[in-house]
Amino acid sequence: MNRAVVPGTFDPITAGHVDVIQRAAQIFDEVVVCVAKSVKKNPMFDLDTRVALSTEALSHLPNVTVRCFDGLLVDCCREVDAHVVVKGLRAATDFEYEFQMTALNYQLSPDLETFFIMSPPKFMYLSSSILREMASMGGTITGFVPPCVEKALHEAFADAYADKDGSSQR
Ligand code: COA
Repeated sequence: MNRAVVPGTFDPITAGHVDVIQRAAQIFDEVVVCVAKSVKKNPMFDLDTRVALSTEALSHLPNVTVRCFDGLLVDCCREVDAHVVVKGLRAATDFEYEFQMTALNYQLSPDLETFFIMSPPKFMYLSSSILREMASMGGTITGFVPPCVEKALHEAFADAYADKDGSSQR
């Protein structure tokens, strides 16, 4: 069984993440999406919500499962018995950080390989934080996030929209 882990904070999962995971699912027998607690990033969505949204967004992929983890990525990979980590690369700016992470993970677990998948141009400029910001200001995010995430972001910022409408009518 050729099993790969796709780790991330997924706060929230975007169309760019789904694209990378779909590509991984065509290459590996099984893909385990591991949603990190990432306390230091102070996520907007709690861990259960990030797992639930990711699970719904990926439900069309039969060989993909979603779980959460807290702690080292190498330990999570050992737990799920995966020897490959898949990361998405959007632009050259991602490279240095990914290079550092990969080098450290090699130190921690020499038999863990990191496999990079390039995002297509239409997703290269996406990030979770830019989409949260767009949603918070009432910008259109259709097509940039799965429908369940669009709904969750709209609900989360509903009060902000109401305030904005109120102030624009004043
Ligand atoms: N499409 C859209 N956005 C993407 C993307 C893609 N294909 N790939 C990355 N991103 C964005 C994310 O949306 C996120 O954007 P934001 O910061 O604006 O919200 C950003 O890139 C970073 O993504 P994130 O999911 O936080 O991943 P990361 O590369 O920072 O790594 C972990 C997160 C969980 C994999 C990493 O922190 C980790 O391994 N933690 C475990 C602890 C550990 O083992 N540490 C030692 C490692 S050596």
